[in-house]
Amino acid sequence: MKIPREVVEEIIRRNDIEQVIGSYVTLKPAGSNMVGLCPFHSENSPSFTVFGSDDHFYCFGCGAGGDVITFTMKMENVDYPTALEMLARRAGIEIPQTAESAYGDRGVKRERVLKMNEAAARFFRHCLTKEPCGEEARQYFKKRGITDGTSKQFYLGYAPNDFGKLTNYLKSLGFTEEEMIVGFLCGKSQKTGRAYDYFRNRVIFPIVDTSRNIVAFGGRVMDDSKPKYLNSSDTPAFKKSKNLFALNYAKGFCADQIILCEGYMDVIALHQAGFPNAVATLGTAITEEHARIISRYTKKVIISYDSDEAGQKAANKAMLLLGRVGVEVRVLKMEGAKDPDEFIKKKGANAFKALLSESRTGFEYKLEAVLSKHDISQVEEKRRAAEEISAVIANYHSTVERELYSKRAGEALGISADAIGADAERLRKKKIREISIEQTREAHATLHQYSNKVNPDAAKNLRAAYAEEALLGLMMIYPEYREDIERGRVELSESDFFTAFGKRAFTAIMELHSSGGFVYAMLGESFNPDEMSALQDMQVRRRSLTENGPEIFRSTADILKAEAQKQSAEESGGLSLEEKLALKRKKLEEARKKRGEN
Ligand code: CTP
Ligand code: MN
Repeated sequence: MKIPREVVEEIIRRNDIEQVIGSYVTLKPAGSNMVGLCPFHSENSPSFTVFGSDDHFYCFGCGAGGDVITFTMKMENVDYPTALEMLARRAGIEIPQTAESAYGDRGVKRERVLKMNEAAARFFRHCLTKEPCGEEARQYFKKRGITDGTSKQFYLGYAPNDFGKLTNYLKSLGFTEEEMIVGFLCGKSQKTGRAYDYFRNRVIFPIVDTSRNIVAFGGRVMDDSKPKYLNSSDTPAFKKSKNLFALNYAKGFCADQIILCEGYMDVIALHQAGFPNAVATLGTAITEEHARIISRYTKKVIISYDSDEAGQKAANKAMLLLGRVGVEVRVLKMEGAKDPDEFIKKKGANAFKALLSESRTGFEYKLEAVLSKHDISQVEEKRRAAEEISAVIANYHSTVERELYSKRAGEALGISADAIGADAERLRKKKIREISIEQTREAHATLHQYSNKVNPDAAKNLRAAYAEEALLGLMMIYPEYREDIERGRVELSESDFFTAFGKRAFTAIMELHSSGGFVYAMLGESFNPDEMSALQDMQVRRRSLTENGPEIFRSTADILKAEAQKQSAEESGGLSLEEKLALKRKKLEEARKKRGEN
């Protein structure tokens, strides 16, 4: 039975990967991910990682990876349809027997959610402004200094302390329980199976997309109880990794720069204080998708995160992701306040404006972090500081940047720019060498893991196989590459692929792409779990390649074509067995030299 794409997506959306995996494996937070001991191979220290922000898992020990469906297949040892059924049951979703019947067109469904959200937003707004039950919320916003005008602009609301008010209201308007549950306005009681209001006794922040649709809600408690915020999870109308709070307003004011904050309240306070170019991610760390969206609207981002340690760590991640998409990044240095909201309350809008103009470049910010750690009047400390800052400089790809920053660091430390620059250059070369060794090693390791099971042809031409993997990985992650192929902007076809597995994967990806959109999970229909792991693996390894992505994609396609030509020349060239062996030995020798072995 073919299960419609909408249903597969719905199943993935409704089965939180951390929760599903967490019911089999003990997971602990590590940075923004979760880690645990891999259930697929035996290990003593956790290399099994769940990437909650983009719904996949990957084991750095054994290479097992995939989405929540792959995980279930491997864990329960079941096939694709059975895994889907198990997950559907877990989330209370019915798989329609005849494909289209129950789910219909996804577009319609999104429309329904949007309509429902609009009704809900009106309801919340009414409760805040008109109802006696909204008094505490009115006081709360007042206490936090939000004016009526701002409240109106952001269409703030209040969800009453009641299990059924909103649910009943939406029912009276003709929305079904199913729609409310999918739209995250209702929860469903495990015991009684009854639907109940999801947001209760919380102030409500509607989230509006750039087309002015109300796509989701955030709800904050008015005291110190937990959880502080509830947010809509992903629905057919909303994906939190792609939406930014207040971008609908900011988009008209951000050609020069965007102020990126952590919280709803920060953004609202900034808009009220005359900074309409402030946005925030929604209950999640910034993702690559966010970064790419931001890069479409502006050239410069000023990161204005909380001044605590968590905020500063998040700022580093934001710098990295935004840097990769070519946006100029600056970081605000905020003293005497924990976040922009508090800063403006304490010191006023003008002081914040001054902070903006004093914001430091990413480098300046890192330099300061290094300087604050060391007492550079001590020779030994100074040497360490120089070492650390050279390592920072080594990470910049542009020669100009490296030169400028070496100079700046030299000034700050009282060391010659040349010395710092030379150290950075040495570190950089070392790193490049390490990466290329690592890549070769990875190619061998991957080969070792999958060669027998998944891709037996790969051993015949490692270079081509590696190029194939890179291309397929990039194609799966980035729709623009699939589009390039579809439109013939990049000439690549099944026949360019060298391994049978590569050919199959290429065709399957492009078929999905041209029939409504590529979804990794849909590959599960035609690939077994080991193959799915291999396909996931290809993506994981390519995630860091956003920088110069298009160039890499094109040149890798060229490598593949060249290898294919060489291969066919060799094959038709009628080499004798001895000649072939000699050739192979020579190639191995070359590979070894490249890896730096003797
Ligand atoms: N957040 C969340 N869930 C939580 C805590 C935080 O989703 N339990 C998200 C919210 O989007 C929030 C942001 O992280 O806006 C920043 O968190 P925090 O600084 O704690 O909240 P503020 O919005 O600054 O709220 P306040 O100033 O009211 O404490
Ligand atoms: Mn705050």
